[in-house]
Amino acid sequence: MVCQNSLSLQAAQEKLDANNQSHLLNFIDQLNPEQTQNLLSQIDALNFDLINPLLDKYVRQEPTLALPQEILPAPVYPIEPTADLVDKYRSALELGESLIRSGKVAAFTVAGGQGTRLNFNGPKGNFPATPIKQKTLFQVFAEGIAAVQNAYGAVIPWYIMTSPANHADTVAAFQANNYFGLDPANVMHFPQGMMPSFHRDGKIVLASPDSLALSPDGHGGSLRALHTSGALEDMSRRGIEQISYFQIDNPLVYVIDPMFIGLHALDQAEMSSKAVIKAEPLEKVGNFTLVDGRVTVIEYSDLPDKLAQKRNPDGSLCFESGSIAIHVIKRDFVAQLNQHGFSLPWHRAVKRVPYIDSNGALVEPDQPNAVKLETFVFDALPLAQRSIIYEIDRKEQFAPIKNATGTDSVESSQQLQIERAAAWLERAGITVPRKPDGAVDAQIEISPLFAHCPEALTEKASSIKPINPGDCVYIA
Ligand code: UD1
Repeated sequence: MVCQNSLSLQAAQEKLDANNQSHLLNFIDQLNPEQTQNLLSQIDALNFDLINPLLDKYVRQEPTLALPQEILPAPVYPIEPTADLVDKYRSALELGESLIRSGKVAAFTVAGGQGTRLNFNGPKGNFPATPIKQKTLFQVFAEGIAAVQNAYGAVIPWYIMTSPANHADTVAAFQANNYFGLDPANVMHFPQGMMPSFHRDGKIVLASPDSLALSPDGHGGSLRALHTSGALEDMSRRGIEQISYFQIDNPLVYVIDPMFIGLHALDQAEMSSKAVIKAEPLEKVGNFTLVDGRVTVIEYSDLPDKLAQKRNPDGSLCFESGSIAIHVIKRDFVAQLNQHGFSLPWHRAVKRVPYIDSNGALVEPDQPNAVKLETFVFDALPLAQRSIIYEIDRKEQFAPIKNATGTDSVESSQQLQIERAAAWLERAGITVPRKPDGAVDAQIEISPLFAHCPEALTEKASSIKPINPGDCVYIA
């Protein structure tokens, strides 16, 4: 976003005057040349063609949510195939594996978020996530990718979307750790776009005399950033067809899942999703629905409770499938979106944003005071002609680290990581000590480099030593 050759002061003044944002230059006389340059670059990057139409709709008022007339549950491929799906699942697995083996699949992590809920300084990918070795999220994913590369004898290029705020620190973490064993030529970091925060009257917030209050434009911005960064072009040069999309926060994610990729590709889908059965009707996850025949995620906050709680005659929830933000996206689909132009709806959040008042004093509000706007990647699902949903077992693939304590915290995630390791070992015929209540009575961590999936662990079961109650076992 920061341009090398930014606007002249006069051009900036004209641009801002024309768009009713002249206050951004209120303190220009107090700035040194470097600060002036900084502010002018940020003003240069403002796209008022994009911003102005949003002010009335999203900033000066809360947009009224028009729920679709008809919301139906979306069809989902079950974890285990029903009798009529057995052949299809077999073909899907073969296809997924062959796409991976022939180097047509890339991994893509969105890591531009601010991670404020975790109270962690720096890129969230640097957060120590695993129970014994305290591997960071970046290391866990890197080792998962390395393991898949080894298993299939193919390169899996890894694209990581950062934000201008954490880009340099993210790249530094990779450099300091030797790219966690991956070839740097196959890892690409690129920053996402930024959006200014607004006062409720539509004025852009000035964070300091020489800078605007900017924040990442949401993970929906990844679909544009893939294009503007050159990542899509890089994928095209490498012959990548499918993009395995996942968030930075889930150490149990299958970074590359041949079955999911295969089902998506076999059905010629353009953007597909993994789902879990919701833990409770109002669980804070997006709901998979069908609107006008298109798969559509309706955020938990937008789906009326009555619908969220509605049950089928057999007692199951009508809208039981929740989104865990894991997708496979066809590269062509992203390319076409960018080629023909697309827009995703904006989502409004009112947050506390410190600002410089008209006297130049810094104000630290104690109440939410400013509007932030973001787009969400799942809003691209209805733009796809075809989209499939594949249900997975949440204990196997979902243990996000989002909060400092409680639900979705590092503590709950590490417990789930241990539970999954135990489940893989038991599946491989190895006895895992358990307490009377069934909880695992040991600390266990399996390196992705040793086994990235249960089948890989089973193959190596004979090399694993017995585990005793209370042991701390790192299997590598
Ligand atoms: C998200 C989903 C929710 C889903 C849940 C599963 C949204 C709005 N909701 O919730 O439906 O059930 O995950 O875990 O996304 N990010 C960027 N750039 C941004 C904003 C976010 O890269 O501008 C990345 C973050 O780094 C993170 C991911 O997107 O990897 C998720 O962002 P977050 O805001 O934490 O979403 P959740 O509230 O966790």
